[in-house]
Amino acid sequence: MIPAPICIVLGTRPEAIKLAPAIARCRRSSVLDTQVVLTGQHKEMVAQVMDLFELQADCDLEIMRDRQTLTGITCRSLQGLERLWQTSKPPRLVVVQGDTTTAFAAALAAFYQNIPVGHVEAGLRSNDLLNPYPEEANRRLIAQIAQLHFAPTPAAVENLQRAAVTGAVHLTGNTVIDALLATAMRQPSCHIDGLDWEHYRVLLATVHRRENWGEPLQAILSGFQTILNKFPDTALLLPMHRNPIVREPIRATLERHPRAFLTEPLDYAQLVGAIQRCSLLITDSGGLQEEAPSLGKPVLVLRETTERPEAIAAGTARLVGTDTASVVAAASELLANAETYRAMATAVNPFGDGRAAERIVALIERYLGVSAATIPEYSLAEKLT
Ligand code: UD1
Repeated sequence: MIPAPICIVLGTRPEAIKLAPAIARCRRSSVLDTQVVLTGQHKEMVAQVMDLFELQADCDLEIMRDRQTLTGITCRSLQGLERLWQTSKPPRLVVVQGDTTTAFAAALAAFYQNIPVGHVEAGLRSNDLLNPYPEEANRRLIAQIAQLHFAPTPAAVENLQRAAVTGAVHLTGNTVIDALLATAMRQPSCHIDGLDWEHYRVLLATVHRRENWGEPLQAILSGFQTILNKFPDTALLLPMHRNPIVREPIRATLERHPRAFLTEPLDYAQLVGAIQRCSLLITDSGGLQEEAPSLGKPVLVLRETTERPEAIAAGTARLVGTDTASVVAAASELLANAETYRAMATAVNPFGDGRAAERIVALIERYLGVSAATIPEYSLAEKLT
């Protein structure tokens, strides 16, 4: 049988992490001919992940610009993908992941070429169109176009059913757990110059969300400063996103603090090593809300809403918003009260069992009629640590 051509499109670091397990599996499939296309929305941050998972892309549209706009990312991706699929044999399925502008633009570009779309991590909803911005809109728009919806949790399945999407909805688990398990198994280290993990309780923080740019980000950073001053046995590890709009205020506020370690983005293995060693996470990232609970670490979420209610319901994540006082209060409670800490530090993993990619690839093969492989039943791993 001639292998069925499919195209996996990705552009940012989280897409690379979450698609890596599926790409590796697709490449091993004898019935799929897999092309991996980078839009290039991110450059260095994607290259790191591709190297770690030993993956190669077939094509890079190189769309990244300094201080790029959503319109720019969308237009350059649409045009690049149109050119690609018009000048070479078009794939039978385009696979996108999550809710970035790359994912939305790739789904739309595929729709314009009459190519069906498979959506990995489908069905997440915060139910607030502006939070996170523009991701909530991106994922809703992709859901209207996709023919195959790979939902990571039962709640995501329900969201898609409520939205009455066309196409098939499948419960697969989240591929982030596949990537996390494969990485944690290698027992990654995390060396940061000058940071003694034994000596300090380390707060691992990340901030990058568009809706937090400006005043909310400044309020969060003041909160970090206050926490460091209030608890002299703590250190802050803050791997800075590459975006200068985010970097400049971080540097201006925290660079001179002796216990603030501002670093380049950590590669994924180092990041997993840091989660394993830190005391708690303070973040506006989506992926960390899934990874940290799986490794038994409490997460304070620097947002007003979340599309990942599973970790909140399980008690390991808490929404604290972006207000200085509430960030300080929530972190202080965890740092000062061992009982509160213990209650939140229970390892739960509502996001999958590490076999999501296997299910997704089997479902793709079935959809394309190239294999009748059985799909492993959905389950949750009890504990990953
Ligand atoms: C994007 C996604 C967001 C995801 C995040 C993960 C959208 C709208 N947002 O946001 O959902 O959570 O990625 O990081 O798709 N830059 C570099 N090198 C890199 C990466 C970024 O220099 O490797 C800089 C560039 O100046 C770029 C800026 O970061 O202009 C912002 O990148 P962009 O992709 O526009 O937004 P993110 O905030 O990364």
